[in-house]
Amino acid sequence: MEKSERTHILDVLTSHIANDTTADAGGIMRAPMSDFTCPKLLEQECEVLFRNTPLCMGLSSELPKPYTYWSDNASGLPILMVRDEEGKFRAFANACRHRGSQVVLEGRGSKMRFTCPFHAWTYAIDGKLESVNKSNHFGDVSSLDLHLIELPSAEFHGTLWVRPTPGDPLDESECLGGLQRDLVHWNFPDYSFAGTQIIDARMNWKIGVDSYGEIYHLNVLHTKTLDKEVVGNAQTFDSFDKNLRMVIANEKLNLMRLLLPIREKWPYKQITYTVYFFYPNVIMLVDLFGVDFLRIFPLDNSPSKSRTIHAWYIDPNVEKYFKDHESAYEDRMKRFRSVVEDEDYAIAADMQVTAERGTQTEIVLGRNEVALQHFHNAHRMGLSRDLLPVEDL
Ligand code: FES
Ligand SMILES: [Fe+2]
Repeated sequence: MEKSERTHILDVLTSHIANDTTADAGGIMRAPMSDFTCPKLLEQECEVLFRNTPLCMGLSSELPKPYTYWSDNASGLPILMVRDEEGKFRAFANACRHRGSQVVLEGRGSKMRFTCPFHAWTYAIDGKLESVNKSNHFGDVSSLDLHLIELPSAEFHGTLWVRPTPGDPLDESECLGGLQRDLVHWNFPDYSFAGTQIIDARMNWKIGVDSYGEIYHLNVLHTKTLDKEVVGNAQTFDSFDKNLRMVIANEKLNLMRLLLPIREKWPYKQITYTVYFFYPNVIMLVDLFGVDFLRIFPLDNSPSKSRTIHAWYIDPNVEKYFKDHESAYEDRMKRFRSVVEDEDYAIAADMQVTAERGTQTEIVLGRNEVALQHFHNAHRMGLSRDLLPVEDL
């Protein structure tokens, strides 16, 4: 994202705020509520989206140096991610080649090698089978290629990507869809991993994604929280293949409008929230403190349940502050959780009940809910379903 692009975004955003307008989809879209309840659709999503599509897992600082690992089961398939001795990011199916036990329990850490908890077969950081406990019972297994099965993985400008099923290498343009310049601009390799938390909810995972895709609800649902800081119902929207970017303003932008007429001088990061959607299931929110990174998956094989994994990465400019004030980190995580869980996902659970009741068959996405319209059709495109039309009423 060049300076001129940032200024253009600020121009558009300022004009929306001044004129009480927002990014406009050109029409409304009706989406079937059965998409939130259908077990057959969920099966297809799990197969196509969560097994055979590259997933953005997090930022590079999940694995800060060689010999660090991150074991993650959120996609439904246990994945072991490592930074090998050369510093290269790699991913493996987290399954022992002996009898399939999970080799590394969920979590992060630093290790030279991994020993399976079942019979103690041991693998090196690069997935190679290093030793077999009481190997005389097996003979010479070296000819059998019993290394951990490697998954396609890549690190693109500070983001980590894995396809949970072996196959072709990952393609940068396919994953980022034109967002390369944005990622280069943010310099994510310098952000440090702060922590993570899990938020389970009684809603379809796509209702979860929808929660972050519009700012229309801000001054209504979040009157006690975000309303004081964020400007409601004004956003920019740009699509990048199946991904998207929306930029919203915090109240400081209004101050800038009064105090500093030269827009090129406005401090972009201090006055905006830049929200990205990375197909198929990631929301990334960049603000002056860092990056809130949300991966939203179906839970327990149910269309009615989902799990959000929230990771927070700290901007290098404020890292010292949060290191010196440990409670500030705790407070921020708690506050994020409470807004999402008590406000957004509480409403989302109501929507799920409505979908399950079946008396109402459709939802309506307004012209100002352009990011949701994009998400719903990107999802359909990925599953080779008919796209929903935009209706100009
Ligand atoms: S399953 Fe891993 S050592 Fe037996
Ligand atoms: Fe919200």
